[in-house]
This record gives sequence, structure tokens and C-alpha cells, in this order.
Amino acid sequence: MTEKNYKRYLITSALPYANGPVHIGHLAGVYVPADIYVRYLRMCGRDVLFIGGSDEHGVPITIKAKQQGCTPQDIVDKYHGIIKDAFEEFGISFDVYSRTSSSTHRRVAADFFKKLYEEGKFIEKESEQYYDEEAKQFLADRYIVGTCPKCGAEGAYGDQCEKCGSTLSPDELLNPHSSLSGNTPIKKKTKHWYLPLDQYEPWLKEWILDGHKEWKSNVYGQCKSWIDGGLQPRAVSRDLDWGVPVPVEGAEGKVLYVWFDAPIGYISNTIEICPEDWETWWKDEETKMVHFIGKDNIVFHCIVFPSMLKAHGDYILPENVPANEFLNLEGDKISTSRNWAIWLHEYLRDFEGQQDVLRYVLCANAPETKDNDFTWKDFQTRNNSELVAIYGNFVNRAVVLTHKYFGGKVPANLKPEAIDAEVLAQIPELKKAIQENLENYRFREALKEAMNLARLGNKYLTETEPWKVAKTDMDRVASILGVSLEICANLAFAFAPFLPFSTKKLCNMLNIAEEKLIWDNFGTKLLEEGHTLGAAELLFSKIEDPQIDAQLQRLEDIRKKNEEAAKAKEPKVAPAKEQCTFEDFEKMDIRTATVLEAERVPKTDKLLKLKIDTGLDVRTIVSGIAEYYTPEEMVGKQISILANLAPRKIRGIESQGMILMAKELDGKMRIVTPEERLGNGATIG
Ligand code: MF3
Ligand code: ZN
Repeated sequence: MTEKNYKRYLITSALPYANGPVHIGHLAGVYVPADIYVRYLRMCGRDVLFIGGSDEHGVPITIKAKQQGCTPQDIVDKYHGIIKDAFEEFGISFDVYSRTSSSTHRRVAADFFKKLYEEGKFIEKESEQYYDEEAKQFLADRYIVGTCPKCGAEGAYGDQCEKCGSTLSPDELLNPHSSLSGNTPIKKKTKHWYLPLDQYEPWLKEWILDGHKEWKSNVYGQCKSWIDGGLQPRAVSRDLDWGVPVPVEGAEGKVLYVWFDAPIGYISNTIEICPEDWETWWKDEETKMVHFIGKDNIVFHCIVFPSMLKAHGDYILPENVPANEFLNLEGDKISTSRNWAIWLHEYLRDFEGQQDVLRYVLCANAPETKDNDFTWKDFQTRNNSELVAIYGNFVNRAVVLTHKYFGGKVPANLKPEAIDAEVLAQIPELKKAIQENLENYRFREALKEAMNLARLGNKYLTETEPWKVAKTDMDRVASILGVSLEICANLAFAFAPFLPFSTKKLCNMLNIAEEKLIWDNFGTKLLEEGHTLGAAELLFSKIEDPQIDAQLQRLEDIRKKNEEAAKAKEPKVAPAKEQCTFEDFEKMDIRTATVLEAERVPKTDKLLKLKIDTGLDVRTIVSGIAEYYTPEEMVGKQISILANLAPRKIRGIESQGMILMAKELDGKMRIVTPEERLGNGATIG
């Protein structure tokens, strides 16, 4: 690699919104990979700062507060605590985990805005936006509800219809009303500040498209399509009463847009722990900054935030943004509103002490290059046939046998054989593979190589069978266990970035201090002859079917509940059609007619063939009403028909027109007939 030698590493991970707990998707996409990378860098002895924190602004938090009858601050206080605890429980080793409602952040974000404002880096623009006269406030898109123009569902939001998933703008909503007062909002002028991203386009092209071709293809590709599509000025303020107030005179009632202030949180949080030298971290070219995020954050971290930093002028830019795709759950998109997720606090309750299992599975299955699926069966299999059967089993056998035959002391190498050297020779190669993958953000591959080291050890023990050799040749057993323990010690290094809890256990078993796990020592001879091991314990335990079945049942219950809720929300009537003109209507020749004969069309369930008197003529019509009317019922009935519909063949019979039916959404149909019998051929209109 031609990589520059950096003096320090500033690693950030997306600040999760503090309006709900975190789930496995967050962990897999952002926090596990970031933590692996950071742990690896620390093992290499690099100077690292790992920044995390909660994103505590934005409209959804204010909505949640309204729903629960509390303040936005109450909401973020609650979830900040829950999220922070969950990360700690999973061993996400932040150097700081702070929050954007802190006073430091408010000051830093306001100062950042002010500098750009004073230097004329923004453009000011007035636009018309929906305003609620009763609540006396402008309405964020989420606060406007109405009928979806695409699917007709009620309760669609000003930015999105949750029924059909369409992205909307408030102007497209039919019958818009304010969710604050229920009133129809008016349009009112308001002023906002915009970051003119279009001006940064040439620079972004050069910096990303020419300068960072090595970025992951999903990231590079998204950047390219944004830039090629042409960038527009972006509003960086909002009319809202929750957020960092815009620090400009006359901007009462306006706050910084959440996506403007949140990434500045990385800076504020650095200032919180390094008040003296935070600037070295953010302004010195010898700092390597890497943002760990999910794919929905790419544009903000690759285009918007860098443009902000560039506009400011003093700051370094990210060297890489290894964003991941999404993790699905049992085939469906993870969704907070549908409760389709595995929440970390629930996992901890159901799988106590098994954090590393989830870390392992989420990394082994990480959505690094494409969306991936988490399934409980895969979780069970990876635990039982990889962690338990390979890694755990190998370590356990090596340590238990050493206790059994050598009183827990590392035996001398009394009788080496060729296979020993062959096996040990593979360690440096595996180390190199792990390292290269880690440095290039390929954590799944790196983990696979670590597991290959365990596989190597397990196979070695199975082939050398020390428990059999012990009957005849203890010298050889000494060598075999010596080699095995050497592999165990190297496994502590290989897995340390990924599985911190099991690594600690393994170090206890081997009786080595965790501080000894320095990357340079990985692959060197680690255990001296005569070194005493600690007590054997199981690194992992089998996960049985009933545990998995309980999880699947829980999800099944949620799925059912969601389906019922979706049904209840379905429209009761068909959506309105597009407007038509009188001329459109006039084209249709609608008349009364009487059924003379009726019979079923053979081999069909729905069709009747009718002979009718239209007053003009006697003709045949095929109609799909057999589920609702028998032929006998139809004969003699007066009906209404569209007489000038172009004839078409149905099941080989030419149908000359169409019978008008009133139809409910669930399919129920009735014929439309004049209130009193009229002559045939009376026109309807
Ligand atoms: N809260 C955002 C999300 O969950 C991420 C913010 S990242 C930051 O999508 F850079 F803005 F902090
Ligand atoms: Zn819709």
C-alpha cells in the first residue's frame, strides 16, 4: 500500500437518533465494523480517538415528544441512556459518547454556522411554506398529513407515504392538513440559509471522483451519481423550536437543520474529551479521519459535511468513508415503526453474556457490499458449528488436555515432527491476510481468516490425536500440546478486534495479560515452556432449538400484528380517478336495456352470456357477474349498459358492450338499474 504514514486516527461512527433504541442493523452496519477497526489500530499502537454520540435533534424527536406528552429533552434523555448502555454492553469501545443537546455542542455548532455566515458562504432565500395559523408555526413535512396522490391512502406524510413507500413533497399531498391542529394550512413566506453545494461541485469532482477512486464501490458510485446529477443549494436551517438556534439576528424560531448540526457533533465530542488539543485531531494533515456510517448517510458524509468543512477552511477531510449497505431481518427490511427489528436490549435479555456471538454473526454476515439478511437459523448455525465446534472446541481441548497430562504447564517441545512446523508456518500468512483485510475495511474477510486459524488448530488436534498418543508416547504429546497452545495464544490476537469478551476469557485461560496483545507480537513465540495456564472454561455454548424457535415466534407475532394493522388502514373505497371533461363523458353512450336470455359460459366461474334488448337492437354481452347473479335471476331484469364500447371477444364469444355494475372494493357487485322501469334504450347521463 502506498498509504501515507499517519500520526493519529480519528474514527467517527454515525450519531444515532435518540428517538428509539438501537437494533442489530445499526450494530452490523456501523458500530461493530468501527469498533473492530479501532481495536485493531490500538493493538498496532496507533494514536486513536473513537468518537460516538447521540443525534438529539430533528423533527421525529419532536413528534415523539408530542405523542407521549413530554418534552423533546425528555425523549432524548431516555434514549441517550438506553443507547449508550447498549453500546457499552456490546463492547463498542468509544473514547467519548456524548450528545448533541450538550451545551458544548450548541456552542460549537452555532460558532461553525456563524463563521460561514459572516464570511458570506451561505445564500439567503425566501420561499413559501405551509403554516398552521392556529398553532402559529411553520409545518415540517412530517407534520403535514393528507391523502397520498399515488395510492390514495389516508394519513400520508408530507415527505413520504408509508403505505406505498412513495417519496412525496408537501405540495403533492391531496387534502393536506396540519397534524398539530387538524386545520388546513396556509402558505406563508419564510427565509432560510442555503449552502450552495453547486459551487463545490468542481472541487468535489476532483477530491472524490479523481482523488478517491479507492473508496468502496457502493460509496463511490453513490457520490458519482449525486455529483453527475448536479448539486443544488441545500437549506441548512428550519422553522422549528427544537435544535440549535440559528445564531443570527432576526432568526427567531429558526434552528440549524439537524443534518447541519449533527456531523459537527463529531467535533464537539472531540472537544469534550480533548479540550486542549482537539485542533490537532481536526486540523493537522497527519490525522487520518474515517467515517463509519450506513448507506443512507453517504451523501451527508461525502458531499454535504465535507463541503461544510471546506467552506470553513481549517479542517481536514475524511480519508475514507467505508459505508455499509443495509441488514434485513428474516427477509424483510428492518423497520422501527413496524417493530421489525432485534433490539439490542432485548438480545441482551434473551442471550445473556453472549454479546460476542452477535458481534461474530453480524460481522461474518456484514452488509459490506450488498444488503444482507439476518436469520435466526444462520445465527444458530454460526454459533454452533463455527464458534462452538471449531474455535471453542479447539481451545477447550488444548487447555483441558494440558491440565490433564501436564498439570496445566506448557510442556517442552520434546518430539517435534514435520507437521508441527508446517502448521506453525501458516500463522504469519494468516496474520498478513487478517491485517490486509482489516486495513482495507474488509472485516468479513478478516474474520474468516481468523476463523481459518482456529480451523487449522482444530484440524491439527484431530489429526495428531494426542489423547491416543498419550497411551504410548508422552514426549510426542508434549509437542502436540505445545503447538496447540501456541495456536491458542495466536487466536487471542486474531480474534481480539472482533470478539473482546471471549478474548478476555481466552487470556485468562492462557494466563496472559490482555495488554500483551500487541499486533507486532502476533505470530511470534508467545508461551514459554513451564508457563502455567489458568482454569479451562468454555468460550462459547451451544444454542438450542427452543431458544431460536422462541425468537422466530416473536417475529411471527409481530408480522401478524403488522398485517392486521395494515388491513385496518386499507382504504374502504377505491381512490378517486383523474378529472375528466364533459366531452369525455359525452362520448359514452349509456342506456337502459333488458335481459332476454342468460346462460353460463362453459368452463368459467365468473362469466354469463346475456342476450339483451337495447331498444336499438338485440345483442350479446359477456359479463363477469356469475358469482353474484344466477342466469335465472338475470332474465327479465332491466339493466344499464355502455352501448358504444368497442366489441371484443371473450372466450370466443363477441361481447357487444358492457353492463354497468356498482362494485365495492372487496369485490361485491350489484347491477345498476333505473329506480322505475323505463323503456329500453333510454339514455343515461
Ligand atoms: N442520526 C443520523 C442517522 O441515524 C446519523 C447522523 S450522523 C452525523 O441516520 F454525522 F450526522 F452525526
Ligand atoms: Zn401512497
